[in-house]
Amino acid sequence: MRFGLLEVLALASVPWCKAQHAQASPSVSETLEATSSVYSMNVTECPGYSLSALTESEVGLTAQLTLAGPACNAFGKDIVNLSIEVVYQSLNTLHVKISDTLNQQFTIPESIVTRPSAPDESYKATSDLVFNYDPSPFAFWITRRLEPDAIPLFDTRTSSLPPTPIPPLNASDPSTAFDAFPLVFEDQYLQVASALPYDTNIYGLGEVIASSGFRRDTGVNGVGTVQTNWNRDIEDPIDQNMYGTHPIYVEHRFNETTNKSSSSGVLLLSAAGADILLQTPPNSNVSFIEYRMIGGILDFYFFSGPTPADVIAQYGAIIGYPMWQPIWGFGFHLCRWGYSNISEVTDVVSQMRAANIPLEVQWTDIDLYHAYRDFTTDPVSFPPEEVQLFVENLASNYQHYIPIVDAALAVTVNSTDVYNPYTRGVEEDVWIKNPDGSLYVGEVWPGYTVFPDWFSENIQSFWTEALKNWSALGVGFSGIWLDMNEASSFCNNSCGSGANYSALTPMSMVGRVITEYPECLLTFVLSYNATIWGPSGNMTINGTSTNSCTTNAMTTTVTKRGLGSGQEPGISINSPPYAIHNAIGALSTNTLATNATHYGGYAELDVHNMFGLMEEKTTNLALQEIFPDKRPFLISRSTFVSAGKWTGHWLGDNYSKWQYMYLSIQGMLQFQIYQIPMVGADTCGFLDNTDEELCNRWMQLSAFTPFYRNHNTYGAIPQEPYRWPSVANASRTAIAARYSLLPYWYTIFANASLTGLPPMKALFYEFPDEPELFAVDRQWMVGKHILVTPVLTPGATTVDGIFPGGGSVVWRDWYTHAVVNATIGGNTTLDAPLGHINVHIRDNSALLLHQQPAYTIHETREGPYALLVSLTGAGTVFGIAYLDDGISPPPTSNRTVTFLVVDGTLSIKSGGTYDVEQKLSTVTVLGAKQPSSVVVNGEEVHGWAYTASIEELVVSDLAISLEEDSSISWK
Ligand code: NOJ
Repeated sequence: MRFGLLEVLALASVPWCKAQHAQASPSVSETLEATSSVYSMNVTECPGYSLSALTESEVGLTAQLTLAGPACNAFGKDIVNLSIEVVYQSLNTLHVKISDTLNQQFTIPESIVTRPSAPDESYKATSDLVFNYDPSPFAFWITRRLEPDAIPLFDTRTSSLPPTPIPPLNASDPSTAFDAFPLVFEDQYLQVASALPYDTNIYGLGEVIASSGFRRDTGVNGVGTVQTNWNRDIEDPIDQNMYGTHPIYVEHRFNETTNKSSSSGVLLLSAAGADILLQTPPNSNVSFIEYRMIGGILDFYFFSGPTPADVIAQYGAIIGYPMWQPIWGFGFHLCRWGYSNISEVTDVVSQMRAANIPLEVQWTDIDLYHAYRDFTTDPVSFPPEEVQLFVENLASNYQHYIPIVDAALAVTVNSTDVYNPYTRGVEEDVWIKNPDGSLYVGEVWPGYTVFPDWFSENIQSFWTEALKNWSALGVGFSGIWLDMNEASSFCNNSCGSGANYSALTPMSMVGRVITEYPECLLTFVLSYNATIWGPSGNMTINGTSTNSCTTNAMTTTVTKRGLGSGQEPGISINSPPYAIHNAIGALSTNTLATNATHYGGYAELDVHNMFGLMEEKTTNLALQEIFPDKRPFLISRSTFVSAGKWTGHWLGDNYSKWQYMYLSIQGMLQFQIYQIPMVGADTCGFLDNTDEELCNRWMQLSAFTPFYRNHNTYGAIPQEPYRWPSVANASRTAIAARYSLLPYWYTIFANASLTGLPPMKALFYEFPDEPELFAVDRQWMVGKHILVTPVLTPGATTVDGIFPGGGSVVWRDWYTHAVVNATIGGNTTLDAPLGHINVHIRDNSALLLHQQPAYTIHETREGPYALLVSLTGAGTVFGIAYLDDGISPPPTSNRTVTFLVVDGTLSIKSGGTYDVEQKLSTVTVLGAKQPSSVVVNGEEVHGWAYTASIEELVVSDLAISLEEDSSISWK
C-alpha cells in the first residue's frame, strides 16, 4: 500500500458527507448522493478500462471504455462507462478526450474557454502525431508519424512506465510513492500517468516559482515536482501552488546520437484541483508524469512542435492568442501601496518629470478607495474632483492612469450605510451564494465582503456599469489592475452569515514598518560607498556584517512540503477524499469555500481555478464597451488557460531580494508558454525594503521584459527610480533603450497576437540543439534577436553569460556595436558596472527603432525611425516590422515593412494601409565592408560614415518613407 499517508489521513476522518457537495454541484455523479462510503484509498486495486465499440470517423475515432473489473472506489466512485473521442485537430494537434458517458462530470463551458470546432478536413492520415492504443487494459500512446519506433511523446502503458512499487521519493511526502499506474476515472478522483524519457526537459505546468529553475525537476537528483493546481493568494512562495493554474507543458528532447532536438507539448484542459507529479524512480531509466485530479474529465491536447516556439504557438491556436496591447502599455509604469493622498501621487509624477525619467503610467493601489471599497475614492485623501484633475493632467501630457479593482466588494455595514455597488449587486443578483441560497460572505480589506459571481446572468452589465460610474466619478482610467482574484478571502469558509457586519472594520495598515533589506546589503554599502535612503533621510542599517556575502546567502532554503500541514481530510464536509498538495491545507482556506455556489448550480470546487479568468474576460468586455475605440489594458494576478486573450499578468508579491529578481526571469518565461506574454515582476521588489543597488539592477533588467512596473508595499521605504541618483541614471539609460526598441517590441507582440509565438524566449527556443542552454534562466531573448544578460548578484562588476550559436552567430553589443569575443559553448565574462545591463544583438537582425526615445511613448512615436541592421557573416539579413496606430482594436489598418540585405543592398518593401508619417532617418549597418559610395533609391548620398574597427556604416539625414519600397546600396 503506497498511498499510506493519504489513507491514514482519510480514514481518520469522519465519514465524508456528499449531500452538501451534491447540492452545490450538479457535476457530481448522482449515484454518489445516496452513498456515504468509505473509500479504499488504494489505486492498486483499480481495474482500469476496456475499449469497445470503436468507430472510425473522418476526423478521428470514438469508442466506449468500460470499467474492467470491480470498482476500486479509491478516492471517489468509479465511473463505469466512459467515452473516448480522438480528433486529429490539425497537422500538429491531436485531441484526446475521455469523459463520462453520462456527461455528469464538470467540463469547462465553451463560454469560458472557447475551443476550436472539429476540423473540416481530415488530418488522420497526414497529422504529425498518431494515436495508438491497447484495448484491454485500455492504454494509449502518442507517437510522431515519422518516428513510430521512437519513445512515444506520451505513453500511458504500464509496460512503458517504471516498474512499481516505487518507494516515496521524499520521506516527508509518502504520496510520491507509487504502487501502480492504472487509469482511474472516478467522480472525485482521476489519475493517468505517462512515461517520459529519463530526465527529459519539461517547462511549464505552473503557475510556480520552481527551485529547480525554469526547467522543471524530474526527480533524478531531488524529489521531483509536485505541481498543485489550486489558485491561492500567497506571497510568492517557492515550489508551491500560487495565483494561477496552467496545466500545459513543453517537453524538449535532445538526441545525443544525432545532436538534434525536438519539442512537443501536452495540455490537460482541466480546471480541477489537481496534483501533477514529475518523478524519476531511483535506479530507473524512465521518468514519468502523473496527473491526479479531484474532478472533471481527461481532456488532452497534444502538440507536435517540433520547436519549442512552435509548441507554444500550437497551444495558442487551441486556446486563443493573446490580446492586442495598446502601445502605451509598453511604457514604464509606476505604482506603490501606501501613497497617502492624491498630492503625494501628483508629487511622484512631478518628481519623475523633474528627474527626466520617462513615466508612462501612474497607478494607484487600494489607498485610493474609501474604506477599501471598490469603485470609490476616499473623500478626504483622494477627493474625486482632485483625482479627475490629476488624471486629466496626465492625459494632457500623454500619460495614463490605472487604478486597482479588488475581486471582493464590501457589504454595507448597517441600514444607513450607502454603498451602491453592493446594493446594486444585490438587486441584480450577482453575488456568489451559499448552498442554501443566502449570500456568501467572506472577508477582505474592507471587512465583510461579497464576491461577484461571473456566471450570473447580469454580471456583465453590472460590472460594466460599475466601471462606467467610477470613470464618470473622475477616476479616468486607461486600464485596470485586477487583484485578489484567486479569490482571496481572509477567513475560511463563508464567515459573515448572521454576523454583525459593522463589527469588522476596514483593515488598518497604519504603523506597519518594514525592517527587512536585500541579502548582502552591507557588502553593497561597502563596495559602492552608497547611502540608503529612508523616510527620515539617509539611514544607517543596523545589521550584521555580510562581508563574506556569497551567492549562497541569496538562496532561500526550500523545504518541500508534505501532505501533513493543515490538511485535515474529512473535517470539512467539502474536502474531496484525495487531498491535493494545497500548500495552505484545506481547499477552502484563505479563499472561497468549495461549496460556494454559482449561478447555474456550479460549485466553487469545480470552478475555483477560473475565478480570475472569468473576471478578466468580464472586465475586458466592459472596457471594450466603455471605450469602443481603444484596446483594453489589464494586468491581473490570478490566471487560467486562455487568460491572455483578456489580460496581462504581474508575478505577484515578490520580495526585494536578489533571489527574487533572478526568479522573475523564469516566471516571465513561463507565462510566454501560457500565452500571457504581457508579464512582468514588481520591479525593485514588493515585500521588504529594497536598496539602491538592487533597484538599480532591477530597473535595468525589467526594461527588457514585457510589462515594466515598479511596485512597492505599504510601509516599505520609497523606491521610485528618482530616489537615488544612480538608479535614476540607470533607469534613464535602460528606458531609452526600451523606447528605441518599441517598434521591435510591438512587432513581436503583434506576432504573438497573430500567430501565438512567444515574444520573450528562453535561449534554447532559438538554439534548440544546444543542450547547455536547456536550463539557462539567467538570460533570455527578446524576440529572436536581442540577448539580455543581467547582473543578478550584489557587488558585481562583471557578469557571465552564454552566447549561443556555437560560434556561427555573430553577437554585437547593443551600445557599442562591437562584436563579442564569445567563448563557444561556455560562459563569456562581460563588463557590467552598476548602471550597465548587457544587451546583445544577434546577426541577421534588421531592427526598426525609434531614433529619439522621448519622455512618453506618444512623443517617442512622433519622432523619426532608425534601422539597425546586423549582417550575418555572409552579409545577408531579413527582418520585418509591423506598424499600426497602437490604439484601435484590431482589425485595424496596419503596415508590414520587410528589410532584406543581399550583396550590399538593403531592399525595403512596404505593404498595408496604415499611414506612417515619420520617416526613416538613419540606417546603421553592422558588419558592412568599407564602401566607397552609398546610393539611396538610385541617388548617391554623402551623409554617411564608416567605422572600420566595428565594421559600422551609418547613413544619416535620410527621409525615407516607410510607406514605399526603397533601397540602399553600399559598394
Ligand atoms: C496584493 C497585491 O498582490 C499587491 O500588489 C497590492 O499592493 C496589495 N494587494 C494591496 O492592494
